[in-house]
Amino acid sequence: MAVFMAYNYDKLYGETRDALGAPTQVFVDFFDQYDREQVRVLDVGCGQGGRDALFIARLGHAVVGVDISPPNGIRDLMTAAKAEQLTIDGGVVADITAYAPPPGRFDVVLIDRTLHMLSKPERGAGS
Ligand SMILES: C[S@@+](CC[C@H](N)C(=O)[O-])C[C@H]1O[C@@H](n2cnc3c(N)ncnc32)[C@H](O)[C@@H]1O
Repeated sequence: MAVFMAYNYDKLYGETRDALGAPTQVFVDFFDQYDREQVRVLDVGCGQGGRDALFIARLGHAVVGVDISPPNGIRDLMTAAKAEQLTIDGGVVADITAYAPPPGRFDVVLIDRTLHMLSKPERGAGS
């Protein structure tokens, strides 16, 4: 399936480290009050991971990040995770409209500022 991307995030990631800034406060607050340790998190449209996947992994959770941005977003995520020895169980280059997650249960599925990149039918929002 061809995906129309209104903005070239891969180009941005290629030019700028941590292009999207600091962790998103609503997720920081969520994980602050989350009383479970070492859960499994799927970050859908993770980009470079600088805003969400990496800070969640720093808390000790196991993160799988998925993004269509080849190669820069997932490359930066995995480079940062390796440097800090974080548990990023997978940095996956995939189109989320066709992505089949790995087996097993995810405790948290996080989608930060990504759904707007999809068409309404792809979002399940009707026509
Ligand atoms: C605004 S960025 C948000 C990135 C990250 N969630 C964050 O908050 O920092 C949107 C991301 O969605 C990704 N994306 C857009 N369409 C996608 C698709 N069909 N499958 C996977 N990722 C997609 C882009 O490559 C980009 O990294």
